[in-house]
Amino acid sequence: MGKRVVITGVPGVGKTTVIDGAREKLKEENIDYTSINFGTCMFEVACEQGKVKSRDEMRKLEQAEQKELQKTAAQLIAKIKENVIVDTHCTVSTPGGYLPGLPSWVLEELKPDIIILVETDEDQILKRRMSDTSRERDMEGYLSIKEHQEYNRAMAAAYSMLTGSTVRIIKNQDFLLERSVADMLDILR
Ligand code: AP5
Repeated sequence: MGKRVVITGVPGVGKTTVIDGAREKLKEENIDYTSINFGTCMFEVACEQGKVKSRDEMRKLEQAEQKELQKTAAQLIAKIKENVIVDTHCTVSTPGGYLPGLPSWVLEELKPDIIILVETDEDQILKRRMSDTSRERDMEGYLSIKEHQEYNRAMAAAYSMLTGSTVRIIKNQDFLLERSVADMLDILR
């Protein structure tokens, strides 16, 4: 079994950007990681079932439907036996409140060795979301993003208690992407 790394962070914090930067460097060193976006796995299943047309519609689905999609995605990802990076969420902000991204039945499938929280200052996240016109981001203010980041830390601690995985926080600040990529590489090597 390879290394199983779960990467989380609020929407727009730059998880995918940091992962892509790290994988590019790892390729030069012949270290292989399969990178899976949990949301994409859920979206493919939701599309097949005719439930949504865009990935941003998923968090508006009924709670039971989101849970069912989560379960299917986790089972698909569990089949990967080599080193894997799972790009996902500690919690998803839904109209009904925070939905755990990694409830026990997802953790049992994924069996993470480490959970990474990518964080940065809330004003930077707000700015990144506003400049990304390809997505239908929820309109949120500074304080609500702050609450979400704080809640994610609490949930990461709970996931760590359930699985014995470690938790690492990586800062992804404006103009300091290279540093975030270097921190990610330390974990993945
Ligand atoms: P997902 O696809 O993961 O969407 P997301 O959370 O909106 O995350 P993004 O990938 O858009 O943001 P990112 O943090 O990776 O930022 P990016 O690198 O693009 O999930 C979609 C949906 O799937 C969820 O809404 C949910 O419904 C569902 N889902 C997923 N996992 C789930 C789970 N476990 N359970 C239930 N549902 C789940 O960067 C953003 C911008 O910032 C870019 O413009 C980038 O250039 C810029 N940027 C990045 N880093 C820097 C930097 N250092 N300096 C300046 N700019 C930067």
